[in-house]
Amino acid sequence: MSKDALKVGLLGLGTVGSAVARRLVSDSGLEAAAGRPLILRRALVRDRERQRAFAPPRLELTADPDRVVGAPDIDAVVELMGGLEPAATYIRLALDAGQDVVTANKEVMAASGGNLLDLAARRAVSLSFEASVGGATPLVTPLKECLGTARVYALEGIVNATTNYILDRLGAGRSWETALAEAQAAGYAEADPSADVEGEDAARKLAILASIAFRGQLGLSAIRRRGIAGLDPVDIVFGAKHGWTLKLLVSARLIPGGVEASVEPVFLPNDHPLAGVSGVDNCVRAFTTVGTFCFSGPGAGGEATAVAVLGDLVRVARERGSPYRSSRCTCTQPLRPTPPSPARYYLRWSGSLPAAAAPPHGLHDGQQLVTGTIAPTVVDRYLADLPPGKAVAIRLYDQPMPGRV
Ligand SMILES: NC(=O)c1ccc[n+]([C@@H]2O[C@H](COP(=O)([O-])OP(=O)(O)OC[C@H]3O[C@@H](n4cnc5c(N)ncnc54)[C@H](OP(=O)(O)O)[C@@H]3O)[C@@H](O)[C@H]2O)c1
Repeated sequence: MSKDALKVGLLGLGTVGSAVARRLVSDSGLEAAAGRPLILRRALVRDRERQRAFAPPRLELTADPDRVVGAPDIDAVVELMGGLEPAATYIRLALDAGQDVVTANKEVMAASGGNLLDLAARRAVSLSFEASVGGATPLVTPLKECLGTARVYALEGIVNATTNYILDRLGAGRSWETALAEAQAAGYAEADPSADVEGEDAARKLAILASIAFRGQLGLSAIRRRGIAGLDPVDIVFGAKHGWTLKLLVSARLIPGGVEASVEPVFLPNDHPLAGVSGVDNCVRAFTTVGTFCFSGPGAGGEATAVAVLGDLVRVARERGSPYRSSRCTCTQPLRPTPPSPARYYLRWSGSLPAAAAPPHGLHDGQQLVTGTIAPTVVDRYLADLPPGKAVAIRLYDQPMPGRV
């Protein structure tokens, strides 16, 4: 006999929320997987009158968060609003009130995931966040559960669909402005794309993944970050001549004394497994003492992301009532950032250089050059000496060295 229904409240009915709502009201397979019916009770929105991609006719839309957060007739809250606040407060209040929470919110999880997981454990409820990194690509659960007893010493990947799409368009010869406009028209870039383009979104996802993989707390400030603004087709053409593909790479590795973590544009050898990851796909490689694992799949889109959200929700429904379902945060110790390792860099500048901005040593090739192995801080100083948009720097890929585990 099936158990009592799980009563679900949504926070947000936008791109992902609408896809989740549609599946909840139309997919009978969810009940079979969960072992109990999933009933969508209510959804919180800002504007109840807005036209929506999908809103079930009998679904109550509310602008009052108390109708969902802490409401006695809601067992599980699915947070799909985005942004740090008020989402973080609503998640905390829901956990405190004994509701299970599923979220796709990387801002909240990168900023205060550890505290929220501990709160969930104290209240004997669960906080699930598979969709906060990689859209539909399974990353959180594999690292937390499947590789939970493996020793992971390095991660690298492509986790930002917007920038990956823009780099593809640059590769097709589009200017920076056209590539960005095309990403916006396709719905892959926000009107204000800065969080994606400047690498902030990717850094949040890396903070979440590295904290799980290395069982420590990696704060955003510990991640060295440069985005893709100002890159141009000439950079991609230069790389192609040398057999390199340009990607916004996230990487983190354990080294003696701490963790080296970065988000930056990197030239990968064409035969590198991440070089072929295109469009809105995501891919993360985990280097462990028993071998290298690779997780890839669609990194964005309402329908795809709903798969990850509903996977979490089905598990909540299956395990509700079990004493083993909530887990404390395993990332108790802060992970100390270490200075970035030296690397080779490709540099390009436009116009004549101010005297103060002599390029770091290397082989001159007009206004494009590849340096010898230099400290990334030298590159930072060089970029800081130039007016914004005058120069770009792209690291040349270096295989993660086995770290201390
Ligand atoms: N879109 C993707 O491909 C994707 C992929 C992976 C993860 N995610 C994550 O999923 C989450 C949702 O993304 P989305 O693309 O679905 O966002 P979205 O389309 O902008 O939808 C946000 C929804 O939240 C509601 N909302 C926002 N702030 C609110 C507030 N203060 N009070 C009440 N309602 C509020 C909005 O209400 P109105 O409709 O009334 O404006 C809207 O329905 C985010 O954390 C995002 O990072 C998205």
